[in-house]
Amino acid sequence: MTTRELNKNLLKNGSYINGVWHNSDASKFEVSNPATGNNIIAVSSASADDTTQAVDAAVAAMPAWRAKTAKQRAEVLHRWFELIMQHQDDLAAILTAEQGKPLTEARGEIAYGANYIQWFSEEAKRIYGDTIPGASPGSRVVVIKQGVGVVSAITPWNFPNAMITRKAAPALAAGCAFVVKAASETPLSALALAELGEQAGIPAGIFNVIVSDNARAVGNVLTGDPRIAKFTFTGSTAVGKKLLEQCASTVKKTSMELGGNAPFIVFDDADLDAAVQGAMVSKFRNAGQTCVCSNRLFVQSGVYQKFSEKLVHAVNKLKMGDGSDSNVDIGPLINLEAAESVSELVAQALKGGAKTLVGGAVNEPGSRYFQATVLSNVTADMSVATEEIFGPVAPLIKFETEEEVIGLANDTDVGLASYIYTRDIGRVWRVCEALEYGMVGINEGIISNEMAPFGGVKQSGMGREGSKYGIEDYLEIKYLCMGGLDR
Ligand code: SIN
Repeated sequence: MTTRELNKNLLKNGSYINGVWHNSDASKFEVSNPATGNNIIAVSSASADDTTQAVDAAVAAMPAWRAKTAKQRAEVLHRWFELIMQHQDDLAAILTAEQGKPLTEARGEIAYGANYIQWFSEEAKRIYGDTIPGASPGSRVVVIKQGVGVVSAITPWNFPNAMITRKAAPALAAGCAFVVKAASETPLSALALAELGEQAGIPAGIFNVIVSDNARAVGNVLTGDPRIAKFTFTGSTAVGKKLLEQCASTVKKTSMELGGNAPFIVFDDADLDAAVQGAMVSKFRNAGQTCVCSNRLFVQSGVYQKFSEKLVHAVNKLKMGDGSDSNVDIGPLINLEAAESVSELVAQALKGGAKTLVGGAVNEPGSRYFQATVLSNVTADMSVATEEIFGPVAPLIKFETEEEVIGLANDTDVGLASYIYTRDIGRVWRVCEALEYGMVGINEGIISNEMAPFGGVKQSGMGREGSKYGIEDYLEIKYLCMGGLDR
């Protein structure tokens, strides 16, 4: 794909701060296409001072935005949703060009991201408080909820659109102003969102996008500026921990959507075709580069052989290539380091006794394309099962009993998504209640949507995104104690 095919009106080359595009020649970095390695566009890199300017703008703009009625904010958000959906194909082309996922998935992400805006435009009008019986005859207790204040965010490259909208939409719905640093690998989707936000009528200073290859300088402002009330992050657990430390000195409210190590459990009584279909979508979506991708496939001994044969059959049908080709099912990994890290995990597993049933390597040395892979004879202590793979590798681990697999599944510091396949309703409840995870897919391989609470437990983070719970992370509770009412 060449830049000529991308919609020029949506293709921006610098940060969007206080309603103004910032593109100077002072410091630039290239955004490249992972499918080809070709550069798409050079983008101006924002500095710490630029980021502080965005915070200044957010602080100044927020009172007027907060003073609007919920319905007025909802109308602006709804227009943003509509414009995004009108430009779904253009946005998907930009997303595929900078991120590498196939066009069908990119179109899906644009709709997925837009759905958060639609959902929270509706939730803006449902920020309800409470009344509580007074402690004395002349008193009444009222609880109101108000937007938390200026919100800052750092978002990842694997979902360059949806990870922004599911943070920005509840923030704006709650009356907050928002400053996001988009991933330096994928800034273009974020900037296109800002362009459409402006067209939708989001006032200057309310939605600011920082693009920069100086993550540390920008991150220090977003986690350290005392005027920012809340910080939200999606990314790895290791980086999340550092950012949490940085937020501590100004006691920011935080929500963190961090790493996962999802177990995908297939019991003997499962509908095997459904389980294979679920494994395919949950494992190979975005070439395995999602926090909710199944990472360890536990298969009960009675169906292990049959499930692996069916899975290999399905994997053999996947077409790998440049995502801009509409026949492609699986694109490249984001960069060479990612391909090397997946190769290393597979090499260690093979050394430990695992066997390759299909795939197992990059297409050719030095390539970002890692083949869709199934490994058998994997044991739970191998690094391919203890670490987040973030690549298209399905390690199969045999188990015997329900108790054993619950123990294996929970034997990790993280707890984001998990999946079980069984037709036994009693087992569904027993296993779901025992799994230490924020989300469980029951006979479902894709569970993310705007109406459901997305988030994890343990070191997978804190807070929930989407759903009626998602807006709570952007609100503060204020207790009003009214006295003297009997005089
Ligand atoms: C993620 O990988 O962080 C998000 C995945 C999703 O929203 O389904």
